[in-house]
Amino acid sequence: MTTQAHPAQRPFHPLLRRGWFDPLPRRIVRLPGVYRPQADSVLLAEALREAVMPPDARVLDLCTGSGVLALTAAHLGAGDVTALDISRGAVISAWLNGQMNRLPVRVRRGDCYEAFALGTFDVVLANPPYVPCPPGTDSSATWDAGPDGRSILDPLCANSIDLLRPGGFLLLVHSEFAGPAISLRRLRHSGLKAAIVARRHLPFGEVMRSRTDYLHSRGWCSAEPATEEVVVIRADRPNQTN
Ligand SMILES: C[S@@+](CC[C@H](N)C(=O)[O-])C[C@H]1O[C@@H](n2cnc3c(N)ncnc32)[C@H](O)[C@@H]1O
Repeated sequence: MTTQAHPAQRPFHPLLRRGWFDPLPRRIVRLPGVYRPQADSVLLAEALREAVMPPDARVLDLCTGSGVLALTAAHLGAGDVTALDISRGAVISAWLNGQMNRLPVRVRRGDCYEAFALGTFDVVLANPPYVPCPPGTDSSATWDAGPDGRSILDPLCANSIDLLRPGGFLLLVHSEFAGPAISLRRLRHSGLKAAIVARRHLPFGEVMRSRTDYLHSRGWCSAEPATEEVVVIRADRPNQTN
């Protein structure tokens, strides 16, 4: 599903004046079960604002949920934005939000792996599921990512180089409990230059509070953790001449 026009061809909605993105769009809808943008989404949006996107950048937002990061990229001047999510509700929500905000976002339903058929991008954004989930628990595809939180991160870190044009970069957000050092190692091993560009301590939400015993049993945190550090990793694909 695609909204029709580039923002330059359409006047902004009167509500979409300066400040309406702060840093995420404030006006979004979500179908039931679709991830409510949270502090991790904000941290990634801030990192995107800080990063210099090439003019008319081609951007991919993996695991788009309501589409807020894709919309932010379009709002910041990206020329071509694709949003991908496995959930039907997310895809509908992201499409509606593109329409409502009058921003041109192409929305696709599919697994992250399907992104490799979409070509290469100047910028890839990802706020994937990364919450460690005890085996045998009812897990949520929205945020749970296997016993170590890495079921999506591992393939993403190993393969995202193939989604990037030379000179392009990935911005990836996740929690300390999903192993930022592992992400950095895997990204570097694939040929990218990777570093943490933003970090913030955030209070545990309901899901993380429900995982405290599990995290403790794995030795990943003290018995009563109240916060987690969430990081944004930037990984650059060197230019051929580098
Ligand atoms: C933590 S939410 C992030 C949503 C949004 N990017 C944000 O920051 O608000 C993760 C999203 O990943 C999607 N997802 C889970 N597994 C996926 C997969 N294998 N391929 C693509 N999307 C997936 C979920 O449906 C969910 O919308």
